[in-house]
Amino acid sequence: MKYLLGIDLGTSGTRTVLFDPDGKVVAAKTAEYPLYQPHNGWAEQEPEDWWQAAVDTIGHVVRESGVDPRDIAALGISGQMHGLVMLDGRGEPLRRCIIWADQRTGEECADITKAVGAKRLIEITANPALTGFTASKIMWVKKHEPEVYGRCAHILLPKDYLRYKLTGDFATEVSDASGMQLLDVPGRRWSDEVLGKLGIERGLLARVYESPEVTGHVSEKAAKATGLSESTLVVGGAGDNAAAAVGTGTVEDGKAFTTVGTSGVVFAHTDKLAIDPRGRVHTFCCAVPGAWHVMGVVQSAGLSKRWIRDTCCEKEIAEAEKLGVDAYDLVDALAQDSPPGANRLIYLPYLMGERTPHLDPDCRGVFFGLSAMHKKGDLIRAVMEGVSYSLKDSLDILEGMGVVPSDMLLTGGGAKSPFWRQLLSDVFGSPVKTIKSAEGPALGVAILAGVGAGLYKSVPEACRKLVKEERVLSPDPEKAAYYKKGHRLYRALYPALKDAFKELARL
Ligand code: XUL
Repeated sequence: MKYLLGIDLGTSGTRTVLFDPDGKVVAAKTAEYPLYQPHNGWAEQEPEDWWQAAVDTIGHVVRESGVDPRDIAALGISGQMHGLVMLDGRGEPLRRCIIWADQRTGEECADITKAVGAKRLIEITANPALTGFTASKIMWVKKHEPEVYGRCAHILLPKDYLRYKLTGDFATEVSDASGMQLLDVPGRRWSDEVLGKLGIERGLLARVYESPEVTGHVSEKAAKATGLSESTLVVGGAGDNAAAAVGTGTVEDGKAFTTVGTSGVVFAHTDKLAIDPRGRVHTFCCAVPGAWHVMGVVQSAGLSKRWIRDTCCEKEIAEAEKLGVDAYDLVDALAQDSPPGANRLIYLPYLMGERTPHLDPDCRGVFFGLSAMHKKGDLIRAVMEGVSYSLKDSLDILEGMGVVPSDMLLTGGGAKSPFWRQLLSDVFGSPVKTIKSAEGPALGVAILAGVGAGLYKSVPEACRKLVKEERVLSPDPEKAAYYKKGHRLYRALYPALKDAFKELARL
């Protein structure tokens, strides 16, 4: 029997899952690591922490499963996108990784737009210059840490750093590379024009593959560290969202999913290239060779809930530990005690600036309508409703571009909460589906690994075999009608505060 391994390098932690050929989980393990925020709006992580988490979780899964490592045919890696990993000539990290959530590069985005031209930049990279994307981070290091840039020999994305540690190869693939703002997204290759105009040497970048292509195999050194076999192939893999698409079967027109991880995403597959000229949503190559996806990204989705848990729910965290349950279950119970609309309290989820629908690194979170009568449960419910409203904003934009999903799946850590699942259906005003496997991105890259290893003919064929839909939730008509009104008011708040956010950033 041949097994497949999926590794998902997330922002909160790395999850490694071993699947059998039917897509069933044989063993799984998550290891967490810190996020460093040395200044307001900055976000960094330590590449060595990711590698340690990978070594720990892979080692655990291989041991726990009892599977002969030689029977693990292939592995795929998925990961948080856009992060900037810089290595010196010996392959050692030169600094902490500046990750996707970091918002320090407003000036560099203006420089990039000037150098390439706003229209041309969208034509080539399918996106306007974004603080979250890698190119502006590279330009920041070039300007502020020239000695680091001078010693840089390799630029990698987070998951591709893990690949390098596992295989010794410098490689990437189209879905994650799309988020660097250096890729010609329609042509699926590095853009010499953008690289030339930004003065970034092409030699610093890794070779680009399609997501199911084999890029190498586990090295002798990595096999010793992890317990894997050198015979295990490593495929391109995918950025976390493109991987979740495969793991949820979102690989054909009409299919879409919403994920609530640290960030939140509304993602739709498209066989035809579609670009929002206003740049409010991203167009990237997807993990199906020759196809793309369009997605809206909310910077602080699960992050908002984690923030309210960590700042207000110490008692629930301690109680959960005593009871041996997940603290989020107790947090959800408090939210459910509050009525729809959280007693007229609205939350804007802009803790780390925003991408969709307001490209604005300076906006910040807001509670609107606070009253002395509000309790903790109201605050939590407002947070979950505010994140759901912002995901609905993304869905509205996709529909406006003519990418109208007929099938909406829910995935990501947030979708584990039955309360949040129903809330999303109510706020979207449409049915949502869940799938049997909760392992979106890890299953997605395991499927890509299966295609690379020749176990399946194509990504859609593998998805038809391995992804099983579970159940459909329908919106509650009364709540949906309420949330329609709530969303209207929610949408009026950002424009009213836009200038005040800029002033706040300058204070
Ligand atoms: C996508 C994005 C996030 C990160 C973190 O553009 O920034 O989804 O990949 O998960």
